[in-house]
Amino acid sequence: MMGSGDPFQPHLEWGLKSSFVGYISSLADGRIEAADGVWQAGNALAFPVHPEIDVPDNEIWFNGRVSFSGHGGMMKLDLIQPRIENTDDKIFLTIAAGEDRVAIAELTETSVANAMGLVKTRFSAVLTEAGSKMFNGQYPAGQQLEEVTVILRS
Ligand code: HEM
Repeated sequence: MMGSGDPFQPHLEWGLKSSFVGYISSLADGRIEAADGVWQAGNALAFPVHPEIDVPDNEIWFNGRVSFSGHGGMMKLDLIQPRIENTDDKIFLTIAAGEDRVAIAELTETSVANAMGLVKTRFSAVLTEAGSKMFNGQYPAGQQLEEVTVILRS
């Protein structure tokens, strides 16, 4: 399905919501398609850091897209070029939606670890109101999601 990646390449790891991934897998026509450098890391999707140099200090940009689909095309959810954005003491995970960006999850830092030239920051994640809409309201705002991990060079 997805290629394996270099774990030393700076990236974002996220399993989104494991029950949603299980739901997609249970559909006869359920598909999870990755493109633009995304690989699979255990149960998580790994998005490589975006090559752009001119990124604002309070943001981290990632490349790649993952498309979840099923129910004959009636269900489609895309995760495109995620970013971590730190604004007004809140941390959001945003995704591209056409020309705009949508904050789908609010993050809380839970740990930072340094090892082998990498710094690994873990966040717990809950769904925002906009994120709830992305799931067609099946999960309410505040719903706990899988943890988000950011791996960068130290
Ligand atoms: C033809 C349209 C659809 C049908 C027939 C359908 C059917 C279902 C069914 C039967 C379940 C329950 C599955 C279970 O409990 O094992 C479910 C759950 C769910 N559906 Fe759909 N659905 C449709 C469209 C959508 C759309 C547009 C979304 C938006 C992303 C969506 C997202 C979800 C989510 C997030 C769950 C909960 C999965 C979980 O965590 O257990 N569905 N759907």
